Amino acid sequence: MIGDFTFHNPTKLIFGKNAMQALADELTGYGQTVQVVYGGGSIKKNGIYDQVVAALEAAGKTVVEDAGVMPNPTVEKLNEGIKIARDNHVDFILAVGGGSCIDYAKGVAVSVNLPQDIDPWQKYWVDFDEPTCEVVPVGAVLTMAGTGSEMNCGSVITNHETKMKIGHVFSNPDVFPKFAVLNPEFTFTLPKHQMVAGIFDIMNHITEQYFSGEDDNTSDYLSEGLMRSLVHASRIAVKNPEDYEARSNIMWCATWALNTLVACGKSTDWEVHMLGQAVGAHTDATHGMTLAAVALPYYRLIMPYGVEKFARFATNVWGIAPEGRSAEELAAAGLDAMEAWTREIGCVMSISELGADESMLESLADSTLIMQGGYHVLTRDEVIQIFRASL
Ligand code: NZQ
Ligand code: ZN
Repeated sequence: MIGDFTFHNPTKLIFGKNAMQALADELTGYGQTVQVVYGGGSIKKNGIYDQVVAALEAAGKTVVEDAGVMPNPTVEKLNEGIKIARDNHVDFILAVGGGSCIDYAKGVAVSVNLPQDIDPWQKYWVDFDEPTCEVVPVGAVLTMAGTGSEMNCGSVITNHETKMKIGHVFSNPDVFPKFAVLNPEFTFTLPKHQMVAGIFDIMNHITEQYFSGEDDNTSDYLSEGLMRSLVHASRIAVKNPEDYEARSNIMWCATWALNTLVACGKSTDWEVHMLGQAVGAHTDATHGMTLAAVALPYYRLIMPYGVEKFARFATNVWGIAPEGRSAEELAAAGLDAMEAWTREIGCVMSISELGADESMLESLADSTLIMQGGYHVLTRDEVIQIFRASL
């Protein structure tokens, strides 16, 4: 392990079928007025909302509702949430939902106490500045496994006007959720499309970190174990979404895939996310599906620059025997296995299916940030080549 790092993850996780029992107690430690953030209403249909309200009542809190957070939360909605928080002087923000609600809650949390003349979008998602004000504490009740937002300090916001979807991973540890309640049963009501998108998102979070660096690094062994667990559980969950064991493993994999652990000592890549987020900014498509559509063309393009690692991936994750194969053949077989699994679980495999077309290629390239930490730094022509291969 050659790279230096600091590992500090302050989020308290409460996991399992009875996890909600802890919510009232957890809330007791924070201020009186709680902004409850949720999405389009799934939590009202599946009963999670009622459980949250009961916990808030038990903890004696004053509740401020903030509903309607859309998948891929927008800058307009963020500004609305900041106003709600300011008008009501909220002391705590409780996100009940998937990554969109939690990311949004963090975005509100870092912005409420800014001077009114500072634009949060510009400060945090364009200039990547850190909070210069007190951050309102955030907690989460997770209803969808995928992003890892429940135990990280990332927040992704979409600006449709400028066609930019940007993730800011804050350095300030106050942005991590104080606690997260994770009951795998809460994910049973997810539409299959969302479950599968979440599974691919988890896989890609791991590969984004795994495919970087050439040193012998414990993080890579952890990543291989997580990927094997995810592939195994995903095959069960797509056949039987109510298999608790599979859904619990998927949820736990999601958290560990992006809570900074497997990034320790790594440069990390994140180019698939940059390509996927450009697609998302143009089409508003489901995050995990945007990644599935671009990942294989990207990995096939960069594979020659990191062939040894791709060969290791083939053997250690997909169980492909190295005997009789060159490193290149093994690496290619590993990517074929990943492609077959991506299809098998039901991911979208092209950006056309997500609403992109040939006329958007230049604009998609304009929206794609180029990362430096992977095996190859893309040129603009290569970015276009990847999008074209995914049409
Ligand atoms: O709006 P509701 O009614 O809640 O419905 C949601 C939404 O339509 C639904 N859903 C969630 N839990 C459900 C449920 N439906 C039924 N039963 C349940 N239990 O699922 C839909 C998608 O939810 P969303 O929160 O958008 O999904 P996800 O968790 O994938 O979050 C996506 C957002 O997170 C960002 C993405 O870019 C995207 O904006 N990401 C955040 C990251 C981070 N913070 O570190 C990293 C990721 O790479 C990602 O970029
Ligand atoms: Zn992701």
